[in-house]
Amino acid sequence: MAPMDLSIEVNGMKFPNPFLLGSGPPGTNAKVIAKSYDAGWGGAVAKTISLECAKVINVVPRYGNLKSRATGEIIGFENIELISDRPIEVWLQEFRDLKKQYPKHILIASIMEEYEKKRWQDITRMCQDAGVDAFELNFSCPHGMTERAMGMAMGQHCDLTEEVTRWVTEVAKVPVWAKMTPNISHISEPALAAVKGGAHGISAINTILSVIGVDLQTLRPKPTVEGYTVPGGYSCQAVRPIALRQVMEIAKAIPAHVSLSGIGGVERSSDAIEFLLLGASTVQVCTGVMLHGIKIVEEMQEGLAKFMTDKHFESVRQIVGKSLPYFSTHMDLVARQKEAKRARAGESSRDNDWGKKDIKDTTAEFTAQ
Ligand SMILES: Cc1cc2nc3c(=O)[nH]c(=O)nc-3n(C[C@H](O)[C@H](O)[C@H](O)COP(=O)(O)O)c2cc1C
Repeated sequence: MAPMDLSIEVNGMKFPNPFLLGSGPPGTNAKVIAKSYDAGWGGAVAKTISLECAKVINVVPRYGNLKSRATGEIIGFENIELISDRPIEVWLQEFRDLKKQYPKHILIASIMEEYEKKRWQDITRMCQDAGVDAFELNFSCPHGMTERAMGMAMGQHCDLTEEVTRWVTEVAKVPVWAKMTPNISHISEPALAAVKGGAHGISAINTILSVIGVDLQTLRPKPTVEGYTVPGGYSCQAVRPIALRQVMEIAKAIPAHVSLSGIGGVERSSDAIEFLLLGASTVQVCTGVMLHGIKIVEEMQEGLAKFMTDKHFESVRQIVGKSLPYFSTHMDLVARQKEAKRARAGESSRDNDWGKKDIKDTTAEFTAQ
């Protein structure tokens, strides 16, 4: 039997499958991105870059985790990592090399800059001249960069999100996705602002602002750097329900021509399919790859193919948004339940049912009080 076609076209880009490395350590240089393409990933969003890496100084430790009490499995992950600390010139050369070596795999540059039109347009031009297939605008990193008014500090303000997206789309010749922060009341508002600024797609979610824990011996919050810490970004399985809800909200709000890339707590095919069903046409994985390795994409491909066969889907596109119509209001659920009860009562009052119980009981059931 021919292998199932898992490809999907998004904003004119043909992905061999909908599984992408999310921006972060899994896409931190060309070597690891190339390995992921070889392993079967349909595309990669590289680690976020900016024009001046000298301003980016990371700390150690910068990760913390939350384990299941029952099994010890890591279910939640916090990081206080910044964007890439590698020079832009090195990145541009690596983009060129990757596109030469893997012309069919999709390479997305994640960019972040200070609030200055020239800087955003310069970095956009440089990356697209190096051949990247698309951009993801990081409006969502929740820690560190916000102290320089970047990342989430932009994405929490719709006017800034719209304006900066427009700066980029003015000069970009390739699709532009805007990556949303979940640390906001109504995530569809900045998503729509980005669409107004010309974004072709929305990515969601970045990490959720968190404090992973406090060391009960030292009384210091974690991860502890020289006795101190900052709240960081939460990811991994534990965030998936929140990500699914926010992806659903965005999917319902954005126009049909705007794409959606789902992110948050994906580790296996069933997780990814949930995002597709709620409106994502690609699914990104970051922490899952950090914890379990790039080979998880093999199960993701097999699981998606099996799901499509079992459920008679002929293309990945047919899955996208399939479960969205089943969100409603509480009032509507109550009305549907009432209606179903009435229908069930009607069913049980059919003539064929006489004889199932004592005839006297059935007579009493059908008798008005
Ligand atoms: C260690 C780490 C570093 C990250 N760095 C970036 C980054 O540079 N740019 C970005 O847009 N998102 C970054 N993220 C966020 C992820 O791309 C993703 O949005 C988030 O972690 C949720 O997905 P996950 O549960 O699959 O990790 C990072 C996440 C982690 C865990």
